[in-house]
Parts: sequence; structure tokens; C-alpha cells
Amino acid sequence: MEMLRRDLYKKIKDTLLTAGFSLIDVREIYKITSGKNIFDTDFDELADILEIETAKELTEKRMSGYPIQYICGSWPFLDFELEVNENVLIPRPETESVADCAIEIIKKFHMKRNINVVDLCSGSGCIAIAISREIEDASVTAVEISIGAYEILTRNIKQLAPKVIPVLDDIFQYLETIEDSCLDMIVSNPPYVSLNDYSALQKELHYEPRIALCDEGDGLNYYRKISKKFKRKLKRQGHIVFEVGDNMSDDVGSILKEDGYKDIETIKDGFLNPRIVIAVND
Ligand SMILES: C[S@@+](CC[C@H](N)C(=O)[O-])C[C@H]1O[C@@H](n2cnc3c(N)ncnc32)[C@H](O)[C@@H]1O
Repeated sequence: MEMLRRDLYKKIKDTLLTAGFSLIDVREIYKITSGKNIFDTDFDELADILEIETAKELTEKRMSGYPIQYICGSWPFLDFELEVNENVLIPRPETESVADCAIEIIKKFHMKRNINVVDLCSGSGCIAIAISREIEDASVTAVEISIGAYEILTRNIKQLAPKVIPVLDDIFQYLETIEDSCLDMIVSNPPYVSLNDYSALQKELHYEPRIALCDEGDGLNYYRKISKKFKRKLKRQGHIVFEVGDNMSDDVGSILKEDGYKDIETIKDGFLNPRIVIAVND
């Protein structure tokens, strides 16, 4: 079947927009299909058969709810592009705010040489990589338990921030391998979807790893354990920076207060939602 690129693009667009998907989906699928973005395309050329078949296949995949980020295989985070696949959580805009917040705190309170930062539950490595790229002197460790995620983490580190130290471990085992009072900052976006909420999540989220989303409890498990167990690993005046789920900031703040942290603060993300909780080790 012969088809002009113009008609192929229109077909992808009409199908996806009618089904409620976005222009970003359309453009990304067209880009993979033709190897070009729409601005570099000669729409009067004929599309070849492979393009037509790929377009059909990817459009159907997207229509089934499969995330566009996994179709692309990479996704932007701040000013860089991370490799992603089904083994890692798709980096979210609110996590960009978490990384920005951590960087701002380091610049304000910890601008001395060789500061020690750990990113617990690192996934694609987005937070650790952002910090390392911005604070060149920092020693940043990224801890991740999933082997599949760790493979992506190490590839992203190699490409984007080779100084980050990747560690394949359960964060609560890793805890036993480091000295007390050695960390200037702990930053973490842990799994925080409760068991109850997990089954009700929209279909698209079930393509992401369960271990990245669900804490298999009430949603606060990781905050409780990290807050309590890692406190002695933080230096005095060291910071803890958590990404938290919707409506969780008060609960996470209370956990930190009970554990003896001070200067507990909730910070809003770029959408003005209270998604970041910070505290200082007393
Ligand atoms: C919510 S995702 C966050 C990923 C990444 N930091 C981000 O913001 O996109 C949580 C990550 O923690 C990892 N994880 C879950 N439990 C863990 C544990 N006990 N120790 C280390 N990593 C863990 C998961 O595999 C997943 O990659």
C-alpha cells in the first residue's frame, strides 16, 4: 500500500487524538517510525512499507496503554535524557523538583569539598545523576535493589554522570556497610503507593515495576524505616529530602518529628503540590 508521509502522520494523529492520547504521543511515535521529527520531514515523500508497519504497531501498542516513555526507550529529565525501560520507574516532573530542591540545599548549606550524598531507591538514577552533574565535587552514591533497574542505572551513570557510585543492594543492607555520621544528605523517592491503592491504580501504571511503586503496606513503610534507621548515618546538620505521595506530607513530617529531626518543611513541586519533605538531623 502506498502512502505519503503526510497521510501516515495524519493517520497516527487522528487515531491517537481521537482515542484521547496527546500530540506528544503522536510526535514521538512518528519520530521513531520515520527516524525524523515532523519539522525535518518531507511530507510529500512516500513512506516505505516498514514505516507504515512500524507506525501501525506502535500506535496499537500505545492505544493498549503501554507508556510512551517505554516505547521511546529514553525520556528527558531536567537538562538530560535518561534511558528507561520496563525495569525502572518513568522519571516524573515532581522528581525534577526533588532533585532541584536537593541541589539548592547543597548549594546553601553544604558547599564544602567532598560532600557525601546518597540517593536511596535510585531507579533510573535521575536524582543522583542530576546532583552529580550540578555539584561536581560531591560524592554521590545511588542504591538500587532491582537487577534490571541497576543495569539501566549503571548505563545512565556511565553516559551522564560517571562519578556517581552505583550500588546494587537493599538499602537496609547497604545501611550496615557505611559508617555512622558519614552522610551530608540522604535523598529518596521510595515506593509509596499503599497496597490498597495499588490495585486501583490506572492501567498504564501497571506497566511500571510493582517494586518501584508499592510499599506493600500503608504507603509510609519506607519513610518510617529510612527515617529511623538512617538517622545515625547522617552527620549533625545533615539533610534528608523525601519525595512524598499526594496527601502524605503531614504524615511523613510527623514521622520525621517523632524520630527527632528538626526544621521539618514541606515544599511544593512545580505544580504547586506538596510533594517534597525535608528535615535536618539534630
Ligand atoms: C519510586 S522508584 C524511584 C526511582 C527513582 N529514584 C525516581 O525517582 O524515578 C523506587 C525505586 O526503589 C527501588 N527499591 C524498592 N525497594 C528497595 C530497597 N529495599 N532497596 C533498594 N531499592 C529499592 C525500586 O526498584 C525502584 O527502582
